[in-house]
Amino acid sequence: MPSKPVVWITRALSANTLERARTHYEVIFDPADEPATADTIIARSAEVDAMIPCHSEVFSADVVARLSPRLRIIANHSVGVDHCDLQALKARGIVVTNTPDVLSDATAEIAMLLLLGAARRASEGDALVRSGQWTSWSPSFMVGRQVTGKRLGIIGMGKVGQVMARRARGFDMEVHYHNRHRLSTHDEQGATYHASIESLLPRSEFLSLHCPATAQTTGLMNSRTLAQLPDRAILINTARGALVDEQALLDAIDSGHLAAAGLDCFTTEPGGNPAFAAHRNIFMLPHIGSATFETRDAMGFRALDNLDAFFAGKVPGDQLV
Ligand code: DGY
Repeated sequence: MPSKPVVWITRALSANTLERARTHYEVIFDPADEPATADTIIARSAEVDAMIPCHSEVFSADVVARLSPRLRIIANHSVGVDHCDLQALKARGIVVTNTPDVLSDATAEIAMLLLLGAARRASEGDALVRSGQWTSWSPSFMVGRQVTGKRLGIIGMGKVGQVMARRARGFDMEVHYHNRHRLSTHDEQGATYHASIESLLPRSEFLSLHCPATAQTTGLMNSRTLAQLPDRAILINTARGALVDEQALLDAIDSGHLAAAGLDCFTTEPGGNPAFAAHRNIFMLPHIGSATFETRDAMGFRALDNLDAFFAGKVPGDQLV
């Protein structure tokens, strides 16, 4: 009987994913659950046929150049692949897949939580009650921005953006969007398309980012683009920290141009930006957009579906290169 392919699972995936992986593969997995360094990735590549990494493992051009020829496929446990130099991996003939679709609901939930929390001062209120400092009430106490009926701008109307639009419609929000391609009338569901972000931004009382981080989108929200938002707008980011120039965001919050921000992603992860902590109107979460039990299983299974297809000699459903 041919031996099973050897797969390195870099991080603590769900128990169901590990169990399924072990039935078809010889699995290398370290329960210590630390992000793998470049040296570890390079060393492991000589021992495995496949890897299931997360966005915490970086496959830069330098790392890719030093990978062993034994490694044939990187089946990412993430939809974002900005941690992978796709061109370099393609040049090495290493197949790369991701896990689209299955985390759209979970991520849109967190985007909605951030939108509501930033608008209605959730972290500030929680801190007040929790610290025992809630000592009075008045009609002028903790007044926030109403969400219902406002205009929501979405940049990146892929799967997550479309779910976000549906959830926002539950709050009677008027949805506007910018995307590389206009959606079909059916998928637009009445949303207004803007061919440029310059057209979208002035309409966006709330702006939610749902596009990937690429060379073109890095620093997309900077001092120039933030200034194009309406006064007292609220920015939500559940996509990638690289999309936002964090100093420009702080300046826009400090000046009062932005009323608030809700962030699940930061330039530096883990850790975030310590300068944000002093601002009560920045509502923050630690990159947990896809962190539900259901979605962790679905992501793990999707990565395994891609591996199964590859080792069965088929093209994986989510093959990127
Ligand atoms: C993704 O899938 O890209 C999420 O950010 C978690 O890695």
